[in-house]
Amino acid sequence: MMKKLGLLAIGLCLIAGLNAQEMKTIKLKAPDKQRGVSVMEALAKRQSIREFANKPLSLQDLSDLLWAANGINRPEIGYRTAPSALNSQEIDLYVCMEEGAYLYNAKEHELRPVTNEDLRSAAAAGQDWVTDAPVVLVLVVDMARFKSGDNAGARMTAACDAGIVSQNIALFCSGCGLATVPRGTMDKARLTEKLKLTSSQLPILNNPVGYAK
Ligand SMILES: Cc1cc2nc3c(=O)[nH]c(=O)nc-3n(C[C@H](O)[C@H](O)[C@H](O)COP(=O)(O)O)c2cc1C
Repeated sequence: MMKKLGLLAIGLCLIAGLNAQEMKTIKLKAPDKQRGVSVMEALAKRQSIREFANKPLSLQDLSDLLWAANGINRPEIGYRTAPSALNSQEIDLYVCMEEGAYLYNAKEHELRPVTNEDLRSAAAAGQDWVTDAPVVLVLVVDMARFKSGDNAGARMTAACDAGIVSQNIALFCSGCGLATVPRGTMDKARLTEKLKLTSSQLPILNNPVGYAK
């Protein structure tokens, strides 16, 4: 009996593993740079919203959101919509959705599969309304990208850079009719494990994103 249960558990693990591998890279759409209200109106509308409609983001909205957050806006030099100290580009975006989590690859403007687990509850960490959002963007800093290495000054710099990415998200949302809130709360240990982060990578902020209710 125990042996059968063991085999069943191994079988289920294998199936789960295969499912994760079977997740496909998602090619994002080119950003629509004409959309949205004026910058001043986006600033006037910017606010934290914590209620989300039960509706997935369209591929165009997801594509535009990620490009606005930290996409490449000067392809000839590879620079981004968000500045970073010494152009370290140390903030990565993990996209947590019901079907699993992906890593945003800005260079290819695509989403690379990480896990088939829904990690929105790990980002919620008790603030249950977060799981109503179809997408939670987890901002992860890779301290190894700083030439100075990991120290108190570099951590402060990383926090500044993450804040700018988060504000890009907020202004895209207020300017294009979506809802978001910047959050420091999250289960960092679970996210670190499930997103397969290395010892130099730290979850630093997150932004649930959806349509307002
Ligand atoms: C660094 C940072 C961390 C935050 N963490 C949370 C959080 O964990 N949960 C939450 O509901 N709001 C969080 N907020 C949102 C603030 O509560 C919110 O910005 C503040 O109340 C002002 O409201 P406003 O954004 O509508 O102007 C955070 C904001 C910042 C800037």
